[in-house]
Amino acid sequence: MSQARMALITAIAVGALAAAADAGAAQARRATFGALADGSRIEAVDLTSRSGIRARIITLGARIQALYTPDRTGKLDDIVLGFASPQQYFDDGNYFGATVGRFANRIGRGRFTLGGRAYQISTNDHGNSLHGGTRGFDKRIWKIDSIASGRSASVVMSYVSPDGEEGYPGTMHVAATYTLSDGGELRIDYRASTDKPTIVNLSGHSYFNLASSPGDFSTMPDLLQLDASRYTPVDAVLIPTGEIAPVAGTALDFRKPTAIGLHIRDGNDAQIRYCHGYDMNFVLDGRPGTLRRAARVEDPRSGRVLEVYTTAPGVQFYSGNFLGGTVIGKYGIAYRQGDAVVLEPQDFPDAPNHANFPSAKLDPGATYHNVIVYRFSVRR
Ligand code: GLA
Repeated sequence: MSQARMALITAIAVGALAAAADAGAAQARRATFGALADGSRIEAVDLTSRSGIRARIITLGARIQALYTPDRTGKLDDIVLGFASPQQYFDDGNYFGATVGRFANRIGRGRFTLGGRAYQISTNDHGNSLHGGTRGFDKRIWKIDSIASGRSASVVMSYVSPDGEEGYPGTMHVAATYTLSDGGELRIDYRASTDKPTIVNLSGHSYFNLASSPGDFSTMPDLLQLDASRYTPVDAVLIPTGEIAPVAGTALDFRKPTAIGLHIRDGNDAQIRYCHGYDMNFVLDGRPGTLRRAARVEDPRSGRVLEVYTTAPGVQFYSGNFLGGTVIGKYGIAYRQGDAVVLEPQDFPDAPNHANFPSAKLDPGATYHNVIVYRFSVRR
């Protein structure tokens, strides 16, 4: 056999082997999600793993648009709230599945000082700034930098926020890397850098509902565990008072698995009244900067268990209080109060205005990094 022919046969064999390996590996594939009313195209990346878990990430807000995981019988269901088309995400104010920033959560009156200078950022929530202001990162179109398949499937999306956008100082480069592993984990790495001193707080805003059927949708029976002994109390417009208080003896004590609905109507608790349920920041036990568990949610009906790990100092637990049955999501489901568990690993809200909170300042030359891991399993 000629050398050229040998080389060709070897090349074909190697190619076939690679294809066979690929068929069993985690895959990342690009797809079109749709277009906004102004014609802007929104792309999607589908991440699939051998375990059957699959996630769709879209470029509008670097969002998780769909996430399928098995229940205890092996049935796959989409466990995140959201929409089937881009314009619905653009018109909606619930941040379904979004990357929220530049500053996740609230900044009182949208004001802070940095290096002796006062800044006013855009306000959009009772005179305060919420999740980046009027048009935060959730409503920006991100770029797909790269995708990768193999032992895990991943996508890197990025966005460059110009100096002064929504009032924030500094040009900021942000990247969100989503990695789906074969072991049943979806990991998000948020990174940011700046060319001027600024503030940053990036988080993921997925609304989880671990149910297997829309007929059994309330998350009130879900057992929630938060690895937090303290929280940051808020005032009536959900701005932290600056205090750090123990959860012991309050409706906010989730140190042991507790049904979400158990204390959610505790009208004697001022925090529950201000938040219309749960919508506060819990101070995570353990050391910020190290990846540790923040929360565990178990749906006793479907058997699905979600564990959330993070490097962030806090986690906001929001029980979907502002869903009023008026938002019609994917599959024609009308979302109502209590239909979702939102766990947002983050710096503390209003951190720039409280010297006793971990700093949310970012300087040129430094890289901000927040890791969020969603680990999926079932309880039989
Ligand atoms: C966060 C806030 C809530 C609410 C939702 C979006 O979780 O803390 O108060 O604004 O986002 O509706």
